[in-house]
Amino acid sequence: MTPSMTDSLTHSGKPSTAPDGNLTGHIYDDIQEYDNPTPGWWHAIFVATIVFSIGYLLVWDVSIMGSSISEDWEGDQRAEFARIFGTVGALNHDQQTILAQTQNPQFMAMAKGLFIGNCAACHKRDGGGDVGVNLCDDSYKSVKHVEDLFRIITDGAAGGAMPAWKNRISDNERVVLAAYVASLRGTKPNGGKPPEGEVIAPWPAPSPNPTAPPSPANK
Ligand code: HEC
Repeated sequence: MTPSMTDSLTHSGKPSTAPDGNLTGHIYDDIQEYDNPTPGWWHAIFVATIVFSIGYLLVWDVSIMGSSISEDWEGDQRAEFARIFGTVGALNHDQQTILAQTQNPQFMAMAKGLFIGNCAACHKRDGGGDVGVNLCDDSYKSVKHVEDLFRIITDGAAGGAMPAWKNRISDNERVVLAAYVASLRGTKPNGGKPPEGEVIAPWPAPSPNPTAPPSPANK
């Protein structure tokens, strides 16, 4: 650093090296205010951020044209479900079709998302039960066979304490949800609710070919 730069930085009392025309004439505590406005490009960026923020506010929060991130996400989810289900058509609600879905990792991942989104509030994320019953043990209140899982999810139970989902979750999604709930059986979540209802027979073995139509022999 040259001595003159140091002087002007430390306000040593020596006259500023800047020409007088660049001084504002304000002096505080012996410090002269140098007229050094922020550059034009800096102002341009500052103004641009304000303009951008107004546009952003209008598009995302005020206008109905833009969609929120969560709306976009839900739309993408629906499109993805439709794409996946488009490959299988309408799934049956019978035991073998439901059990077959437990062998399809893609459907189980999707059903897990549905379960966390719609069911975990009452049954806990791991199915251990809270307001709703424990879905992981061998005891069930209204379920004797795998198809009953679909029926209860569709129509509800206990006068609506377990809500009916038929108008809120599509048929195929309820089939894979039933499969997911069937697959929860035998898992041991921490702090699960004590068993309620009666112990029922184990599910039959699933057919080896997921999403294949059940053969008449298995029905
Ligand atoms: C508002 C709370 C609530 C929500 C949300 C809920 N459930 Fe339930 N669920 C219950 C209750 C309470 C029962 C027990 C009903 C009874 O006493 O028979 C139950 C029972 C069940 C049963 C029958 C269990 C048995 O032992 O008979 C299944 C299967 C089930 N729920 C699955 C689901 C699925 C899948 C979802 C999400 C789509 C879901 N539940 C969402 C409260 C809920």
